[in-house]
Amino acid sequence: MRGMLSPSLMCADVLNLQSELTVLDEMGVDYIHLDFMDNHFVPNLTLSPEAIKATKSVLRHMKRDIHIMAFEPQQYFDRMDIGEGDIVAVHYEACDDLGAVIEEIRRRGASPSIAISPDTKSEVLADWLDKVDGVIVMTVYPGFAGRPIVEGSLQKLAAVRKMIDESGCKVLLEVDGHVSWELCAEMRACGADLFVAGSSSLYQKGLDIREAVTRMTELVR
Ligand code: DX5
Ligand code: ZN
Repeated sequence: MRGMLSPSLMCADVLNLQSELTVLDEMGVDYIHLDFMDNHFVPNLTLSPEAIKATKSVLRHMKRDIHIMAFEPQQYFDRMDIGEGDIVAVHYEACDDLGAVIEEIRRRGASPSIAISPDTKSEVLADWLDKVDGVIVMTVYPGFAGRPIVEGSLQKLAAVRKMIDESGCKVLLEVDGHVSWELCAEMRACGADLFVAGSSSLYQKGLDIREAVTRMTELVR
């Protein structure tokens, strides 16, 4: 499978989100990464559930890649209008009944994904690979853009790739956090399929977003 981009909307210009989305959509970018935070699971807030819902009216081709950093994420699904075509990632560490949350995502026609924070061992995914369509390996501590990569993250990414391949399950491997110009090709070599592109790459100050998307698409191909 070719590597795909998921630009992180929380890193884009908040006063121009609609035009930011339209440019990416017109360029044929595969996914838009939409971060939701509850200020409890992580100590921050970003896009609201209503803002995440509103993106639906702008997108023509690009799919939503919704990353919910919140306890009991199912309470927000209605407000985000989760449905067909969406990837919905919930944190392993944030769900009392992960199986029920995954089933609820499927019931709505969306693709469930499990995100694991840096301190969570990759082995916890083993029991879930046959139940999800994706996993997110967080390579920074979640909650803020612009954080440094956590040591050992590339090895963890490669270990999850190996687990997925050995399981025979069809699971998309997504990497989120400090996906920089310098590291993205290495992350690709470790087996990542989907790359969250935030303040470490596409949304660095002064870059032309069209040129940046073209360049990054090449690097993760
Ligand atoms: C962090 C968020 C990411 C973030 C990554 O908690 O989940 O989506 O925007 O972008 P960087 O690390 O490049 O700023
Ligand atoms: Zn994210």
